[in-house]
Amino acid sequence: MLDDAPALLEEAMARFDALWKEARACAPWEPDAMSLATADAEGRPGLRTVLLKEANARGFVFYTNYESRKGRELAANPHAALCFFWRSLRRQVVVEGTVERLAEARSDAYFATRARPAQLGAWASEQSRPLVDRAALQARVEKLDRTYAGRDIPRPPHWGGFLLVPDLIEFWTPHEGRLNQRERYTRDAAGNWSVGLINP
Ligand SMILES: Cc1cc2nc3c(=O)[nH]c(=O)nc-3n(C[C@H](O)[C@H](O)[C@H](O)COP(=O)(O)O)c2cc1C
Repeated sequence: MLDDAPALLEEAMARFDALWKEARACAPWEPDAMSLATADAEGRPGLRTVLLKEANARGFVFYTNYESRKGRELAANPHAALCFFWRSLRRQVVVEGTVERLAEARSDAYFATRARPAQLGAWASEQSRPLVDRAALQARVEKLDRTYAGRDIPRPPHWGGFLLVPDLIEFWTPHEGRLNQRERYTRDAAGNWSVGLINP
């Protein structure tokens, strides 16, 4: 095991970036998609796909409805995990860590770049709540469209970004005989990063 805090995190993020870039160049379908695992206050898990919008020196950014199931679970329990599986690259990356909400100004800035239908959808959809029928949702969208006709649509207060700050990043690479390679970067409680191999 090697011990070296920021340099190892930088190394792991650079490796992640290179793979993500490769996936964007050659993965045919949703190269930004990742599974996001959350758990409620009792530890009961929830899992769904979201899109990675940014990976930077601090961590992994995605956007969602803060009042959705995942949003409520993350408010009660900030521990979360991500799993990327790029089938065409035959590669997997697993990330674990703790989430924090992005600053409101950053969520505003990203929301402003979204297409208008997606902006209307963020207002109209009570994500994860029961929906009586699709006509009710469509009617909400149309009403909002009229309300905001000819104007910019502001970000709904219940919608925005999360940053997942990693404490584990694991790269999985296939090898013959299922002796796959698992390289795991972890941060300990004191904040020091180390890297080592894990049995496949
Ligand atoms: C390819 C793909 C990308 C998605 N991206 C997002 C996303 O970035 N944000 C989001 O809130 N939901 C996204 N969804 C929808 C979620 O999977 C999920 O249905 C929704 O967020 C509600 O999840 P929850 O009820 O567990 O909170 C995506 C679904 C797919 C299949």
